[in-house]
Amino acid sequence: MESHSLEKFTKKFYEDKREFLEENYPGISLHRLMQELQHYSEDEQQKRFFDSLEKGVPLEYIRSRAYFYRSEFIVNENVLIPRNETEILVERAAQFANKLHRSLDERLKFVDVGTGSGAIALSLIQELDFPVDALATDISEDALNVAKKNNFFLRFKYSKDSQLDFIQTDRLAGVTEKFHLIVSNPPYIKEEDDRHKVHGQVESYEPHLALYIKDAKYDQWFTDFFKQVDEALLEEGLFFMEGHEDHLQGQKTLLEQFNFTDVEVIKDYTGRDRFLKGIKKCKN
Ligand SMILES: C[S@@+](CC[C@H](N)C(=O)[O-])C[C@H]1O[C@@H](n2cnc3c(N)ncnc32)[C@H](O)[C@@H]1O
Repeated sequence: MESHSLEKFTKKFYEDKREFLEENYPGISLHRLMQELQHYSEDEQQKRFFDSLEKGVPLEYIRSRAYFYRSEFIVNENVLIPRNETEILVERAAQFANKLHRSLDERLKFVDVGTGSGAIALSLIQELDFPVDALATDISEDALNVAKKNNFFLRFKYSKDSQLDFIQTDRLAGVTEKFHLIVSNPPYIKEEDDRHKVHGQVESYEPHLALYIKDAKYDQWFTDFFKQVDEALLEEGLFFMEGHEDHLQGQKTLLEQFNFTDVEVIKDYTGRDRFLKGIKKCKN
């Protein structure tokens, strides 16, 4: 479409579908739509863009790209679209790692559990200007394929001596290495109790494996996870996890039953409980 007629068409589309667009794309403006359209030069691509918008497909999935922290990541329907609030986790983990590095006489080792697009692991490794050994796990092979692609394209952004490996496993099952830092944004929505709070667009398009845990298995899932974390974390190492505002206080009590100290629930920028942190205790 000619740029003038494309602009006219988009304006009319925006006005006609305003209510639907505002419901599915909170805060969307005509200007933003025009910006997104700049990624599509061919008629066929533009048509596909409008068709996807009419279905409510998240913009990130339409373009297969999402911004997180300092990079653009490839995303598809097999991975969660990385969220702004998760950037706090990267920031805090990077602060810890930078400080710890100064007192270490070995390479710092970290693991990202449930890596999805790889957004956390790759952003964190970029924040560290020293070589590290990192691991990223996910139970989904399809998600890991996306993470590996992102690693391929972002490899140049981190120390060439750093090593980032990927393994398909259930949380940390079978991982025998020990780490100075364990980060995770695991699935944390209770499939039944919490579902009503999930936006329709998230429910329809994002992978349920990345979002939900069955209510009946929820507490056991985190008990098993914390046990693995306890075993895999080196003394004085940090565990930093994103979680659900309704369950983090309970999970704080649970984590305290393992070998952790300084266990804290941390809020996000909107003032909601969003993260759980703990330091692995020293034995003596
Ligand atoms: C909330 S998403 C987080 C994705 C990414 N880390 C981020 O922050 O954008 C949770 C991820 O955990 C993975 N996952 C779900 N169950 C898992 C399990 N038992 N073990 C490992 N990964 C799991 C999902 O496939 C998904 O990629």
